[in-house]
Amino acid sequence: MKNNIYWTLNDRQLCDLELILLGAFNPLKSFLSRDDYESVIENMRLSDGKLWPLPITLDVDNEFVEKIEKGLKITLKDKEGFSLANLQINDIWQPDLKNEALLVYGTSDTKHPGVDYLLNSGNINYISGSLEKISLPRHYDFLELRHSPNDLKSLFKARKWDKIIAFQTRNPMHKAHYELTKKAMLEIGANLLIHPVVGMSKPGDIDHYTRTRCYQHILDEYPKDSAIISLMPLAMRMGGPREAVLHAIIRKNYGCTHLIVGRDHAGPGVDSNGNAFYGPYEAQNLLSDFQDEIGIEIIPFKFMVFVPKRKEYLPIDEVKDNESYETLSGTELRQLLDGGRDIPDWFTFKAVSDELRASRPPLDKRGLTIFFTGLSGSGKSTLANGLLVKLMEEGTRPVTLLDGDIVRTHLSSELGFNRNDRSTNIRRIGYVASEITKNGGIAICAPIAPYNNDRLYNRELISKNGGYIEIYVSTPLEKCEERDTKGLYALARKGKIKEFTGISDPYEEPKAPEIVINTSDEKPEKLVKHIYDSISKMGYILNKNLRG
Ligand code: PPS
Repeated sequence: MKNNIYWTLNDRQLCDLELILLGAFNPLKSFLSRDDYESVIENMRLSDGKLWPLPITLDVDNEFVEKIEKGLKITLKDKEGFSLANLQINDIWQPDLKNEALLVYGTSDTKHPGVDYLLNSGNINYISGSLEKISLPRHYDFLELRHSPNDLKSLFKARKWDKIIAFQTRNPMHKAHYELTKKAMLEIGANLLIHPVVGMSKPGDIDHYTRTRCYQHILDEYPKDSAIISLMPLAMRMGGPREAVLHAIIRKNYGCTHLIVGRDHAGPGVDSNGNAFYGPYEAQNLLSDFQDEIGIEIIPFKFMVFVPKRKEYLPIDEVKDNESYETLSGTELRQLLDGGRDIPDWFTFKAVSDELRASRPPLDKRGLTIFFTGLSGSGKSTLANGLLVKLMEEGTRPVTLLDGDIVRTHLSSELGFNRNDRSTNIRRIGYVASEITKNGGIAICAPIAPYNNDRLYNRELISKNGGYIEIYVSTPLEKCEERDTKGLYALARKGKIKEFTGISDPYEEPKAPEIVINTSDEKPEKLVKHIYDSISKMGYILNKNLRG
């Protein structure tokens, strides 16, 4: 009997399983069956007619499908190998993922994070069946802020709260959010549940640790015992209107009576042509059709702006024509933080801006990777060593040099120079550099890194953790060959070294490097100074003339 087959859940599946097991996805008792799936994507209803807006499915790869059959009981595990649930399989099928994207999200544009998961990173088979809980996923952070729906309902009861407004968020809260929640509480005579998503939200969002500390500071601003925070491990799909319906169902399950829905609720941003995927108030409109059926009242909110003359926040449609107002977009806030500039008082509370400053230090104090790429003999190592010394002289952050030869000795000694091995080598360098960057240091890398894919992979990985500067050392092949310091080009030309970059293996030129340097005719000192000055201009090194 096959009794030890298990599936390791990815981050999104783990979040989904947790909400199913908690009862937060009620009436779902498991991942969607095939009938329910078809019905949900077409009609936003389960096959028994109950409202359900988004497919919560368990996607698995072909290799796994080979091992399973209907009737088999498998175990669902987390990445550490802890068993969380058993699934007795009833359905195994291959969905039409593009059709799902079009029906559910109204687009097949992979700039939409929900579509991107479906078409680029999810698996192509779905399985479902009856689910049997073994254990809830483990958490170690903010335990006092994590609740099941029953926990929250009992808590509301104990506090005699009968009207509870849920505030859904995936961003830090600022004064605009504070004002609008307070306004809603006053108008309805209700209490507030700050109910942030801490599972998965939009790629690039501020991490939930920072956000939760911000919510804790904001909680102090509300009248005593009028509001609470509970962390919600949802994996958002950024599904706009349909996702707003899911948010309302979840809040109903947690015992809330009202849900605030603002502009562009669960919005995925703009599509490949720069147009919004959904209209700004589309989610509010769809939800107003379903609020009675769900049993929760929607509190629609317009965009809040600060009116300096009145020193207060107002919904934008209440600002008089002759009044000016202030707003600060996420991009503008990031620019202020990057430059180490003050965040205006009207925008947020000091404790919140302190948290944001700590999590996103100014560029000149932030971790950074400087990634040299170019042919063998192009001058990468010389420049990298020179820059290393200049940055040590500057001294704001610890600096590590990951030169091609050093890495091949200490990290990649078993690897050769075929495409796969080079790719592994470059991605290993990327991983180490991303860790250094995350911890606030500077990593200087200087491998050949001949392939675009690997360089892009590293750029993406590292940019999540700090700065990334690619320097293309563009010294032409003829010059590198003429130098031939290690005598390798001569051997490569004779065919004694195979797959030699530039001779018998390709070097794909970087498409958008931050800096391009040709070492053919200039002295290294001058070039190192040029690189140092360029990095300084980008803001990553404090301009000494401005010091003190
Ligand atoms: S890669 O492609 O990025 O993994 O290469 P890298 O690790 O930077 O290469 C380090 C040094 O290996 C020597 N070498 C070769 N280079 C290119 N192609 C082949 N086949 C090869 N075999 C050995 C070469 O001297 C590289 O060092 P640098 O410092 O670039 O001259």
